[in-house]
Amino acid sequence: MAILKIARMGHPVLAQIAQPVANPAAPEIRRLVSDMVETMIDANGAGLAAPQVHVPLRVVVFQAPDGRSDPGLSEEERFDHTAPLTVLVNPEIEIVSPQLEGGWEGCLSVPGLRGYVERPFHIRYRGFDLEGKPVARTAKGFHARVVQHECDHLDGRLYPSRMSDLGKLIFESEAKHWAS
Ligand code: NI
Repeated sequence: MAILKIARMGHPVLAQIAQPVANPAAPEIRRLVSDMVETMIDANGAGLAAPQVHVPLRVVVFQAPDGRSDPGLSEEERFDHTAPLTVLVNPEIEIVSPQLEGGWEGCLSVPGLRGYVERPFHIRYRGFDLEGKPVARTAKGFHARVVQHECDHLDGRLYPSRMSDLGKLIFESEAKHWAS
């Protein structure tokens, strides 16, 4: 395992379309994912996409812990809002409803900043795990947001390009001035 160097906004690897993985169960993919998870946890991120560690492949890791979801949710609602540490190879997203929800995002490739981004609130996603088995889930809220944010990295997009109001691109240190 190793902590990998994270590419920062402006590095060309973050702007390119990542390539599909031919064999999700290949040992080199397992090694990559293990390093990505270690890097994400070390950097205290909720997700990481392979291009962020200079590997232009369609692989993401993420987690949507209970603490990040709306506190007012029922047990049943909470299910779609949370996800354990998840690896997705060759992910695809389908938007379930056009309803948008705004939320503050950060990105390990855009250090020190936060931006307010509106995204579809309810999605379905699928992909493959490290054994090559299909994964399919529905996601809402923060869970839907983190998956969309990470999959955007695979298409060369960073969250500022999803913002409708760049007046809401702020330094983390100033977040206290904004209601969450
Ligand atoms: Ni990011």
